[in-house]
Amino acid sequence: MSLPAYTKSQLALRNGQDRDEIWVAYRGKIYDVTRSRLWRNGMHYEHWAGQDLSNELTDAPHTEGVFDKFEIVGYLV
Ligand code: HEM
Repeated sequence: MSLPAYTKSQLALRNGQDRDEIWVAYRGKIYDVTRSRLWRNGMHYEHWAGQDLSNELTDAPHTEGVFDKFEIVGYLV
C-alpha cells in the first residue's frame, strides 16, 4: 500500500503546537509520535517535532530502533 507524500511545510504543522498530531521525519519516512509521552507538546529533550531530525539522531543516547513501535504516516518530499 502506498503512503501519502508530505512537504516540509505540511510536516511543520505537526509540531505539537499547531495541530494535535505530532510527527517526526527520519530518513524520508514520517512517523506519528502523537501517543508518546516523550514527545508531549512536540518537544523531545532539545528537539522539536514537525521536522526532519535525521541528522540529529547522532546526538541521541538511542538508535533509530525507537521508531519501531510508531506508525509511518507518509513520506517526506
Ligand atoms: C539530546 C538528544 C536526545 C535525547 C537525550 C533523547 C533521549 C531519549 C530517551 C531517554 C528515550 C527513552 C528511552 C529509549 O527509548 O531509549 C527516547 C526515546 C525516543 N527518542 Fe530520543 N533522545 C534524543 C534525540 C532524539 C532524536 C533526534 C529523535 C528523532 C530523530 C528521537 C526520537 C525518539 C523516539 C521516537 C523515542 C521513542 C519515544 C517513545 O517510546 O515513546 N530522539 N529518547
